[in-house]
Amino acid sequence: MPDVRDSFSKVAANYSKSTFHASSVRLQEVVDLVRPKQGDLALDVATGTGNTAFALAPRVRRVVGLDLTREMLDEARRVAAERTITNLDWVIGDASHLPFQDDTFDIYVVRAAPHHFTDVEAFLTEAFRVLKPDRDAAFVDCAPPLPARDVLHEVELRRDPSHILSLTVEEWVAKLERAGFEVETAQARELDWNYEDWMGNMSIGAELSAELAAVIESAEGEAREQLHPQRRDGKLFHAYWHALIRAHKPSR
Ligand SMILES: C[S@@+](CC[C@H](N)C(=O)[O-])C[C@H]1O[C@@H](n2cnc3c(N)ncnc32)[C@H](O)[C@@H]1O
Repeated sequence: MPDVRDSFSKVAANYSKSTFHASSVRLQEVVDLVRPKQGDLALDVATGTGNTAFALAPRVRRVVGLDLTREMLDEARRVAAERTITNLDWVIGDASHLPFQDDTFDIYVVRAAPHHFTDVEAFLTEAFRVLKPDRDAAFVDCAPPLPARDVLHEVELRRDPSHILSLTVEEWVAKLERAGFEVETAQARELDWNYEDWMGNMSIGAELSAELAAVIESAEGEAREQLHPQRRDGKLFHAYWHALIRAHKPSR
């Protein structure tokens, strides 16, 4: 199985500049989901270059950003120093084996990463374990509706071999409830997706990028209706979806 570190160690600098990942509008979505308070200790799992951690930092006491890929955390450290944000700690670790005690965090966040996780049940068990009772978590990840998922799955895998699976919102809700969470809100938010930027994040070459664009542009039936690919000034745009979920850990 491809190691996620092989994919991300080479492209870390792209993620602190990514149109999607660094967008203040997209980061505000996470803040709105978890409603941070000034005294909170927050955990941002698979923090990558720290975009979500940076959005939380001014609103909480401290943020821990955890990721498997050292080079992503190196880039996060560089950006934190550049912006003089100091209430952050960076930890190398796996979402499925968190190096923290039970009931440690006031807020748990994970964004744009669970589709890489090999053991979703273990990741959710760990999310539930480290969150304090009566506190909230935000889960944000790509979540295409079913026919579009089949098309995007091929594209995602060839763009980044460490992609495993994007869950639908319904699949997310079922898994979160099984892990013990109460799902408070769960929606799929559709974006007008800039294909070129998306390929650029992973530094995909022109040849593969053209092949994968053809996969999307040749989609048929319901998948085509959902993706509605179109060229604007020669550039491909299509629909792309994220699950935006707020979940609560009940008090014991
Ligand atoms: C697209 S980036 C993360 C983006 C970031 N959360 C943000 O909001 O900008 C995906 C990250 O997931 C990390 N990752 C993948 N599998 C992981 C795992 N099992 N545990 C921790 N981090 C993981 C990768 O190293 C990579 O940095």
